[in-house]
Amino acid sequence: IQNSRRVLVYGASGSVGTNAVQLAKHFGAEVTGVCSTSNVELVRSLGADRVIDYTKEKFENDGPSYDIIFDTVGKSPFKACVERLTPTGFYLRAVHMSPLPVVRGLWVNLTSGKKVIGGTSKENAEDLIYLKELIEAGKLRSVIDRNYPLEQASEAHHYVEQGHKIGNVVLIVRQGNRLE
Ligand SMILES: NC(=O)c1ccc[n+]([C@@H]2O[C@H](COP(=O)([O-])OP(=O)(O)OC[C@H]3O[C@@H](n4cnc5c(N)ncnc54)[C@H](OP(=O)(O)O)[C@@H]3O)[C@@H](O)[C@H]2O)c1
Repeated sequence: IQNSRRVLVYGASGSVGTNAVQLAKHFGAEVTGVCSTSNVELVRSLGADRVIDYTKEKFENDGPSYDIIFDTVGKSPFKACVERLTPTGFYLRAVHMSPLPVVRGLWVNLTSGKKVIGGTSKENAEDLIYLKELIEAGKLRSVIDRNYPLEQASEAHHYVEQGHKIGNVVLIVRQGNRLE
């Protein structure tokens, strides 16, 4: 991400989304977040310049073209996203892609200057240390929705699988007197 690039984060209130909004701002982008009504203020507080409430308006109907559209939850409309990209823009999908979007993505990649990239990336120590430093410097904050003790891991999974958590859900592991 370079300065003044336009980035849209689709699913801006989830775990990946809350971090994506903050990181895109950190790297100087102009950020639009897409979330539902109850999360609009949160996404704004994370630094988004513009927030679209997906229950009230569709980002594909108006507004600017984007250099990057990052779908964190796999629910963005494929065709509309590709259309809303700048001629050399990126459509990133942080979820496992089924065969149809993979084929559509390959077609876009072969026939235009736009790029569709999907799946999860491998983490590496260097990136994690960089993120740790941002957190320690107060430049990246973790949004915590709920905490569960390890014994309630099943309930925690059930809650997460509903697909509407805000930021992160924490499992607390006790080791002797220590909390992990
Ligand atoms: N979290 C991780 O560490 C991690 C790691 C690797 C891979 N992944 C993968 O990355 C994907 C995202 O994970 P996540 O943990 O960030 O997801 P998540 O936190 O479960 O996403 C939940 C968020 O998605 C929003 N959302 C649901 N439907 C939406 C829609 N139609 N439009 C816009 N926003 C919508 C919800 O907001 P509303 O309630 O307002 O709808 C909620 O805040 C998953 O496929 C996951 O498997 C996650």
